[in-house]
Amino acid sequence: MTQSFQALVVDQTQDGEVQAQVRSLDAGSLPAGEVLIRVAYSSINYKDGLAARKDGNIVKAYPFVPGIDCSGTVVSSEDGRFSAGQAVLVTGYGFGVSQFGGFSEYARVPADWVVPLPGGLTLREAMIYGTAGFTAALSLYRLEQNGVAPDQGKVLVTGATGGVGGAAIALLNKQGYHVVASSGKADAHEYLKALGAAEVISREEVYDGAESIRPLGKQLWQAAVDPVGGKPLASLLSQIAYNGSVAVSGLTAGTKLPTTVLPFILRGVSLLGIDSVFCPYDTRVAIWKRLGSDWKPERLVEREIGLADLPAALEDILAARSQGRTIVRLAD
Ligand SMILES: NC(=O)c1ccc[n+]([C@@H]2O[C@H](COP(=O)([O-])OP(=O)(O)OC[C@H]3O[C@@H](n4cnc5c(N)ncnc54)[C@H](OP(=O)(O)O)[C@@H]3O)[C@@H](O)[C@H]2O)c1
Repeated sequence: MTQSFQALVVDQTQDGEVQAQVRSLDAGSLPAGEVLIRVAYSSINYKDGLAARKDGNIVKAYPFVPGIDCSGTVVSSEDGRFSAGQAVLVTGYGFGVSQFGGFSEYARVPADWVVPLPGGLTLREAMIYGTAGFTAALSLYRLEQNGVAPDQGKVLVTGATGGVGGAAIALLNKQGYHVVASSGKADAHEYLKALGAAEVISREEVYDGAESIRPLGKQLWQAAVDPVGGKPLASLLSQIAYNGSVAVSGLTAGTKLPTTVLPFILRGVSLLGIDSVFCPYDTRVAIWKRLGSDWKPERLVEREIGLADLPAALEDILAARSQGRTIVRLAD
């Protein structure tokens, strides 16, 4: 590898603020790990926005390189499972959280974090899905394990214009589900229909903002993919049909869930927790294989940016100004 390379570095200024800048790093600044990767692409996820923010509660020590996923080519490996020239991807574990991440031309990681790039996916496509797409796919995997099937009713996707939401719409549509997308963006209907939503509704139709949320309402959805959490999740639980399931992955509307046991004990509703970070390795590899084959979504819209564009893009994702997936190109 070259002696120095470019990365987005988040650092603390003298007045205690946090600033993200493209900087040159040398090989010695990379963390320990068996596999050195020449990064081709990374992508922007909500957690990356938090990592670049002073009160984001992600970064433990500065300076830090965020980026919770990447795809690229192995430069060298001290682990026999990987060899130079092999195409790989990394999502989750401590990548871009406890150790330097993918907003960097080079990354060094433990071999246990590395997934071989599945057949049917290019390095670029792997990051169009990235952590968000993998999380959406894990949500579908868990819902189907729990008995959800295309012929049993409508599936609601909340946070629809976001990374997880958009990927979930495209994935579910490809599998033949009737997808209803819920979004706070009134001008996003055409975009969501192009992704695969059969119907688009406003956020308020899921949760109208009322302080007190009825635990049981009209049974509208057989299932939901929910990256939003908070009060909207409490409200959508009241709308899930008998024996239905909700896969919850996110907290963009908050962490508190003001519901009761009633949807669970009177309607048999299942609330399935989705964690892409420590998802077991075998499941992880199996889901990536499906993303390269029968689950490969046909219509995912992406925007490609370079390292220098990252600071603004990270602000956008926190302010919910992003739409769909943004990938970061790191190799020419
Ligand atoms: N559990 C896991 O393993 C895992 C993995 C990846 C992500 N996540 C989490 O999942 C969430 C979404 O991630 P993402 O990458 O998809 O983020 P994103 O691209 O920013 O999408 C989030 C979407 O949520 C909606 N939203 C934002 N603020 C809201 C609010 N106050 N009330 C209701 N809806 C709101 C917006 O969609 P609309 O404007 O269309 O409504 C927004 O586009 C985050 O909390 C992230 O940390 C978890």
